[in-house]
Amino acid sequence: MKPLFILLIFSAWTFIGAQYYYQGLMDYLENRLLAIEDRMQFWSEQYHQYHTEMLAFKELTAVTIDGLKSDHSNMFKDLEGASLRVDLAEKEMDYVEIQTSPRACANRADKVVEHEAWGLQDREEEEDGDWEDLQSKVSDCVEIISGIRSVKILKRVGSPKGMWTRDPRSSKVYVFNGTSGDTVFQFNSVRDFSRSLGVEGTTSIQLPSEWSGPGSAVHNGYLYYVQQDTDTDVQVVKYDLLNGSVTEAAIFPVDSHASLYSLNPETFADLAADDQGLWLLYAASDSEPNISLAKMDTATLDIEEIWDTRCPRENAEAAFVICGIVYVVYNTRLASRSRVQCLFDVNDMVVSQEAPLLYFPRRYGAHASLKYNPEEKQLYGWDDGYQIIYRLTMKRKLLV
Ligand SMILES: *[C@@H]1O[C@H](CO)[C@@H](O)[C@H](O)[C@H]1NC(C)=O
Ligand SMILES: *[C@@H]1O[C@H](CO)[C@@H](O)[C@H](O)[C@H]1NC(C)=O
Ligand SMILES: *[C@@H]1O[C@H](CO)[C@@H](O)[C@H](O)[C@H]1NC(C)=O
Repeated sequence: MKPLFILLIFSAWTFIGAQYYYQGLMDYLENRLLAIEDRMQFWSEQYHQYHTEMLAFKELTAVTIDGLKSDHSNMFKDLEGASLRVDLAEKEMDYVEIQTSPRACANRADKVVEHEAWGLQDREEEEDGDWEDLQSKVSDCVEIISGIRSVKILKRVGSPKGMWTRDPRSSKVYVFNGTSGDTVFQFNSVRDFSRSLGVEGTTSIQLPSEWSGPGSAVHNGYLYYVQQDTDTDVQVVKYDLLNGSVTEAAIFPVDSHASLYSLNPETFADLAADDQGLWLLYAASDSEPNISLAKMDTATLDIEEIWDTRCPRENAEAAFVICGIVYVVYNTRLASRSRVQCLFDVNDMVVSQEAPLLYFPRRYGAHASLKYNPEEKQLYGWDDGYQIIYRLTMKRKLLV
């Protein structure tokens, strides 16, 4: 009986013990849960607070952004107004410039070479021949620029200075990047050039010698370029673009390599080719302030005549030849608007009253070169790395 009692007591005790043990565990877990709940509560409160703060902030930013937006549109309107006013001011400036500027100065032909050596007879015939006769002596056409009709900025390729031109016969475009080199890029057409990605994948022509300065000319499948070997000798090279060989070369004796245009010191000779022949603009020497002009035979590169154009080299940036008239383009050192301010007619036909003072349209920088294409009556300009086409309107020269 006693052992059974003891067992009973023992089991009851064990039971009570376990009971206590579980109770403890339960209490512990409950406390933990409570603690977790507290923390959850805390975080929920925090979250709520943050959320509220965030909403407030969002509202604030929305208000600020709205304010900024309206400020921006106000500023934009102001800017538009200002730009309109600048345009107006510029138009007025143009008007004033055109009203007040003197006409481009037109110089009469003044041959500096010996008449005996270069066609005295021609000159004598001119004197008593009618003007049709006179025309055919140096230049057959009778056109003078009357204005710049339009401008087209085609693309931007290469360095700020360079030159591009189109052969009027083949329609091919030739690009001379930089101020010297022995490479020329060729495109099949202006369209091809404007669609191209730079000069990648196009035909590049490797010349046997370096061209110096953006003063080359392309005419009838031939490339004429200026090569400078030493300080004193300038060579004009005629290169056959079809079979890739030099067909002719002639030394052009100039005293030094004085730059032709003071605003483009890399150009010390500038070629222009047309149906009348090959024209070479150059600086006779450092001390000669005016631009000289030589007419050469396109086939043999013989010099036929030389003139002093009396157009100053100072502040000149480029020049081009149309129908035996040299148009010299001037600018300022801080590029403003280029203008034709001096012209020289080898035929002595242009009178001062009809010499146009031509302003080029507003643009980016300064012309490194301007090349005239007689078939299209347009100029190919290289302006601070932009390739630009200027379409010209022409009129007949007044006949005196
Ligand atoms: C053009 O010439 C400049 C240097 O004069 C050179 O840095 C540039 O790579 C050339 N661009 C092309 C397309 O050849
Ligand atoms: C290239 O053509 C010219 C004629 O335009 C010719 O005089 C010259 O011999 C030719 N050169 C070569 C290498 O075929
Ligand atoms: C240069 O041309 C001007 C006219 O524009 C003339 O007065 C001057 O004498 C010329 N200078 C020389 C050295 O020929």
